[in-house]
Amino acid sequence: MPAVAMSAMPTTEVLKQQIVDETILSPRFYTTDFAALDRIDVGPVRDEWEVLLAQMEADPNRLHFRRRDRFTGIVEALEPDVRDEFIAFLLSSMTSEFSGCIFYSEIARRTTNPDIRRLMRLLTRDESRHAGFIRDSLKDAGLPISLDFLTRAKKHHYFRPKFILYATYLSEKIGYARYIAICRHLEAHPENNFHPLFDRFEEWCNDEYRHGEAIALLIRADPKLTRGVNRLWIRFFLVSVYATMYCRDHMRPALHRAMGLDITNYDYQVFKICSDISRQVFPILLDTDNPKFRDAMEAMRLASLRLEAAREKAGLRKLIARAGASAAVGWAFLRLLSVRTKANALPARVLHPATW
Ligand SMILES: [Fe+2]
Ligand SMILES: [Fe+2]
Repeated sequence: MPAVAMSAMPTTEVLKQQIVDETILSPRFYTTDFAALDRIDVGPVRDEWEVLLAQMEADPNRLHFRRRDRFTGIVEALEPDVRDEFIAFLLSSMTSEFSGCIFYSEIARRTTNPDIRRLMRLLTRDESRHAGFIRDSLKDAGLPISLDFLTRAKKHHYFRPKFILYATYLSEKIGYARYIAICRHLEAHPENNFHPLFDRFEEWCNDEYRHGEAIALLIRADPKLTRGVNRLWIRFFLVSVYATMYCRDHMRPALHRAMGLDITNYDYQVFKICSDISRQVFPILLDTDNPKFRDAMEAMRLASLRLEAAREKAGLRKLIARAGASAAVGWAFLRLLSVRTKANALPARVLHPATW
C-alpha cells in the first residue's frame, strides 16, 4: 500500500547518501595554513584567555552528555513528515559537530603553538561528545550511522586562516543562538517538546557559546582582523551564514510546525541574538530589521527554491533553469550585501556572559 510505503522509516543507506549529497552542496570539511595558525599570539588578550580556558578545563558539562535512558520509539512515533525532517535535522547537526571535531583535532595535532593546541583539544573533546550524543539518538531510532566514511571520501576545502576564524566564530555563535532560542521557546511551550534531546540544549549550547568566546579572543588578539578590507569580509561571512540558515530552515516546515515555531520569526530572533553577541568582535552589524534586508532575504529564499527545482530537470532545460536561478541567487546576495550596516564600537573586554 503506497501510504504505508511513504511513511516507512528511511534506511541507513538512504541517510548516508543524504549526508553525502548535503556535504557536496555545502562543504563542511576544511583545511588551512597551519603555520599561520602557529603565529597567532594571544598575548593581547591573555587575561581573558586564561579565565575562559580555565572554565573550559573545569569541564562543567562532563556528565551532561552521559545518557541515563534510551530514546527508543520516539522518532518512529512522529508523523512521517515531521519524522523525516527531524532526522534530516539530526543528520545535518551531527555532520556539523563531527566536521568541527575533525577539523579542531587536526589543528591540535599539527600546531606547534601551545595556546592553540590547548584550545583545540578542548574544542575536540566537546564536539566529539556532541556528535556522539546525536549518533546515539539516531541509533536508538534504529539508524546506526558512523560518519567515518565522510573523512575518507570527502575533499577538504582550503580556507585562509582569517576566514577560518570568522566562519568558526559565526558557526559557534549561531549554533548557540539556534539552540538557546529553541530551548527558551520549548520552556514556554512544553507541549511542543517532542524529543528528550531538546532537554539537553541549554548546557549543550553553553559549550558552543564558550567555543565562540575563545574564537572571539583569537580574532580580537589581532586588531587587523577587524579593520580595513576585513570589514567587508566580515560582512560577506555574516550575509552568507544568515542566508544559508534562512533558506535551509524554510525547507523544514513540518519540523518547525511541530515545535510550534514560525520559521521566519524564529530565524530573525536567532539573527538578533547572534548580532547582539557579535558586538564583542565585529565592527559592523547587519541591519536585519531593515525592510530592504528582509525583502532581499525572501528573494534569496525564492531563488534558492528555483535552484533546487532546477536539479530535478534534465538536459538543456536544466542548464537554462540553473543559469537563471544562479543569477537570481547572486543578485539576491548582492542586494543583501548592499543593505547599509550598523557601526559597532568594540568593547574593551571581549568575554560576555551567556545571558540569552
Ligand atoms: Fe558542538
Ligand atoms: Fe562548538
